This record gives sequence, structure tokens and C-alpha cells, in this order.
Amino acid sequence: MIKLSNVFKEYKLDGEIFAAVKNINLSINKGEFIAILGPSGSGKSTLMHLIGLLDNPTRGTICVEGKDVSKLSDSQLSLLRNEFVGFVFQQFNLINKLTVLENILLPTIYSKQKFSASPEERAFSLMERFGIKEKATSYPNKLSGGQQQRVAITRALINNPKVILADEPTGNLDTKTGDKILTLLTELNREDKITVILVTHEADVAVRAKRKIQIRDGEIVKS
Ligand SMILES: Nc1ncnc2c1ncn2[C@@H]1O[C@H](COP(=O)(O)OP(=O)(O)OP(=O)(O)O)[C@@H](O)[C@H]1O
Ligand SMILES: [Mg+2]
Repeated sequence: MIKLSNVFKEYKLDGEIFAAVKNINLSINKGEFIAILGPSGSGKSTLMHLIGLLDNPTRGTICVEGKDVSKLSDSQLSLLRNEFVGFVFQQFNLINKLTVLENILLPTIYSKQKFSASPEERAFSLMERFGIKEKATSYPNKLSGGQQQRVAITRALINNPKVILADEPTGNLDTKTGDKILTLLTELNREDKITVILVTHEADVAVRAKRKIQIRDGEIVKS
């Protein structure tokens, strides 16, 4: 489904080239639950941004469903990203000036997908499933961390993506709340067959994943 071949992401620092990720060869199949593990600065977020088409590699190719994404125009690429991937971040990344419902509906504005239910209907059915329906008109900063992360997951799911990319989704939550979020991601993988890629540096978070990818100094050392 997603294939990275000889992928590098390089930056020029003080005239020298620094590779945040190097020579990544990775195939991600539909329905997988993958944990990306590694110490701080090892390139986990960089790799996640590449997989999620938020960033272009400086070398190598990324193919999504057999298509080389470097061949897509900017608008084709944003459309693919918008419909194919949902992102969940450690800091939730919700917009505090918008209500919960408005936050959740944001990705639907640019989507050209056809659904039988309206965006609002989809939002309410997901909010009900995740126990945040009564928060629809609240503002994110009035919610607990766990509730905010559930809003972020709802927003990530609104366009029915094939992949959820979660970068340290439990990093700002207490253990119990974090565990509930992980259970929810596990359910989405098992029941809804959504591919989940989870970045973490906690080994006990990674036990949920069927496949673990260890990264160190930008390179995959174990997968
Ligand atoms: N835009 C950039 N310009 C230069 N260097 C960068 C840039 N983005 C990331 N890096 C460097 O690339 C390396 C990998 O960063 P990355 O954010 O991917 O690490 P990480 O594994 O996610 O770390 P953490 O666990 O702390 O989130 C780091 O050394 C970082 O400083
Ligand atoms: Mg990171």
C-alpha cells in the first residue's frame, strides 16, 4: 500500500549535509499495526511526515498504491493526503478558536470524496462512538487531554482514511487515559481495518503493535 525505496531526508546544516533519515526501505501493507520506535532525534517524526506525504524525500521514492507520489502535482498530492491519511499528534493540534465540531469538519472542506452521509452526520456518528458528542459545541481548551485526543482522532477519521499516523499520541496523557486512546486505535485497526502507524519511545505502548520498527540515527536497525 505504501512503499518507501532508498528514501533519504537531508538538511544542509552549516554547509554540511545531515540526513535526518537515510536509506529507508519499507513496505507497509493494508491493515498493519506498526510501531516506530527510537530515541529522541532518531528521525521518527521525519519518517512519519514522509510516510504521511507531508514532506518530500530529498532522495528515493515513495509509492502509494503503486503510484510514485513525486509524479503528482501539488493539488493531486494534497488531495491524496487529505483522503488517504489521518494524523494524530502528541499536542492534539486542535484549533482553539473553533468548536469541537468545526475542528472535526475541517478536513471535509477540501475533500472531493462522495459519501452517503453528510459531513455533519459522519461527525456526529463518530463523536457518539468516541463519547464526545455532548462536547460538539465546546471549545477544545475546555476539554480534558483524553477528550481532546478523541476529537483529534475523530478529525483524523472524518474522510475515512486508509491510514492513521499517530506521533506520540499518548505523550501528553496520563497512563490510564493514554491506554484508552491506544485501545481506541487498536479497535480502529482490528474492526475498521485501518492501517495504524504509531510513533512512540515507550516500550509498553509498542506492545500493541504487531510489527515494530526500530530506528536509530535515521536508519532502520530492526524491523
Ligand atoms: N527542518 C529541519 N532542519 C534541520 N534538521 C532537522 C529538521 N527537522 C528535523 N531535523 C533533525 O533531524 C533529526 C530527526 O528529527 P525528528 O524530529 O525526526 O526526531 P524524532 O525521532 O521524532 O525525535 P523526538 O522523539 O524527540 O520527537 C534531529 O536531529 C533533528 O534535529
Ligand atoms: Mg518526534
